Amino acid sequence: MMEIYRPTWAEINLDHLWHNVLEAKKHTPHKIMIPVIKANAYGHGAIQVMRFLYEKGIRIAAVSLLEEALEIREAFPDIEILMLGPILPNDLIVASKYHIDITIYSQEIYEAVKSLGLWVTCHLKVDSGMSRYGFIKPKEIALMVEELQMMKHVSLKGIYTHFATASEDETFYKKQLTRFKKVLDMIKTLPPMVHISNSSSAFKYEKEYRFTTHYRLGISLYGLSLDNPKPDLKPVMSLKSKIVQIKNLKPLECVGYGATYCAKEDEKIGICPIGYADGWIRKNKTGFVEIKGKKYKIVGIICMDACFIKIDEDVHVGDTATLYGNMISVDDVAKRLHTINYEVCTSLSYRVPRVFIKGEKND
Ligand SMILES: Cc1ncc(COP(=O)(O)O)c(C=O)c1O
Repeated sequence: MMEIYRPTWAEINLDHLWHNVLEAKKHTPHKIMIPVIKANAYGHGAIQVMRFLYEKGIRIAAVSLLEEALEIREAFPDIEILMLGPILPNDLIVASKYHIDITIYSQEIYEAVKSLGLWVTCHLKVDSGMSRYGFIKPKEIALMVEELQMMKHVSLKGIYTHFATASEDETFYKKQLTRFKKVLDMIKTLPPMVHISNSSSAFKYEKEYRFTTHYRLGISLYGLSLDNPKPDLKPVMSLKSKIVQIKNLKPLECVGYGATYCAKEDEKIGICPIGYADGWIRKNKTGFVEIKGKKYKIVGIICMDACFIKIDEDVHVGDTATLYGNMISVDDVAKRLHTINYEVCTSLSYRVPRVFIKGEKND
């Protein structure tokens, strides 16, 4: 584990992560979960998250990049790794060597796979309406499937699509679903894996589907969701720092770059060693942190490595400030920043040590 030399860290509660897995299972009977651990497991620490899931018996994961796939492969020689993102033709050799299951998402990759002459395992991606990666035309897709299934050096493991509006627009979702089913109807022999759901779709609809075998669980694995009402999930990550110094300001004395916040009266300012280089971006200046069960306002401009909190007599050097995780949720921070919870957790930088908690009594 990374040594911690400053009191700023992210707590990753693996008991909560497991709670979320079990909760997803309730909504997806007889289906196999593919944990999505791209982008460092949405900021939570891909290797440690996978290690925990591995201990629980999970032997499959999805990432986006080949770099991510190779990092996971090094740590887990015997799991299935599905690369959801695009691969370049020249990199197929690497994917083949390290047994990474690639996504065939374009004609160029399809042709490159055909002519590779090396063993390659793959999934075919259908673009059912999101206009991102994948193929659109059902007849062409069906022919591709047949051709891939006949090739000696290719194992076509799966076919899948991805939804653009699983958490918001049911009409568009259904349109995509219909298009995907039309593709499946054209295929003589389906590959062994058929998967369509992300978190939102898994919780809302997966129970109804007879034709899917797997689902890809990202954000809700980490206890977050865009759904309303939200599923019964437990947030996995809390972001914490400590008050390392307190300044007693006199009226008109100011804090931080630009001297944008100046005291109106005698005020106490606590300094936390976390800033925008940690992913605690400058727009958080309008927010709050929680110290000993009470919310305190962030003031001044957030520095690269520090931020300022307007505190009172109850706060002392060494007290823990929770930036999100308890009274203040990741969703609160996302709302403040006009973004979504995905962006808040994936933006936490490599500088913040992740501390993993396991075996605690869940509340
Ligand atoms: C292709 C694909 N599948 C699954 C997921 C997981 O989605 P979610 O985090 O909403 O569960 C993603 C995330 O972006 C994705 O790109």
